[in-house]
Amino acid sequence: MVFPDEEALAAAVRRRLTSQRFAHTVGVVETADQLARRFGLDVQRARVAAWLHDVAKDEPPESLLKRAKEFDIVFDEITARVTELWHALVGSEIARREFGIDDEDVLAAIRHHTTGRAGMSGLEQVIFLADVIEPGRAFPGVDELRRRSREDLEGAVLAALESTICYVIRQGGLLHPDAVAARNHILLRRS
Ligand SMILES: [Fe+2]
Ligand SMILES: [Fe+2]
Repeated sequence: MVFPDEEALAAAVRRRLTSQRFAHTVGVVETADQLARRFGLDVQRARVAAWLHDVAKDEPPESLLKRAKEFDIVFDEITARVTELWHALVGSEIARREFGIDDEDVLAAIRHHTTGRAGMSGLEQVIFLADVIEPGRAFPGVDELRRRSREDLEGAVLAALESTICYVIRQGGLLHPDAVAARNHILLRRS
């Protein structure tokens, strides 16, 4: 596919985000770029997916719900109850319809960046992980995840999934089955 001019893309994303979220996005772009280079993946795809991964994140839930209806997105039972998951699904459709992205791997990386899923592509893993370990993130264990991400992409994704799954459980939140499936898939592959 022809990717959008990166400067124009960054400017368009900036208009949709708070300055804090934009700073996070810049961190995800830089981290995704490094991970893609390190693990021999397409750097341009990684950067475009990173720029757009949270494009819908600062829209209020009512507006996300409206857009999901417009885009014929059907939420599963858990997603319908967890508003934090909506921006990924809606964001992927915004990337397709409003930014002209037709690369299915880039769209999947945006769509699945919050929960992960079984059988993630390399690009999906890069975006999932970059979102968790970008330089602006500070939580117990993040440095260990950064260290792991220097040698073993899939191992770092596994550890990041475990970290986010444990966080959701500690908060008493609903756990999306895709996160569990993503973890099981990696464990089975590595056993
Ligand atoms: Fe997100
Ligand atoms: Fe993010």
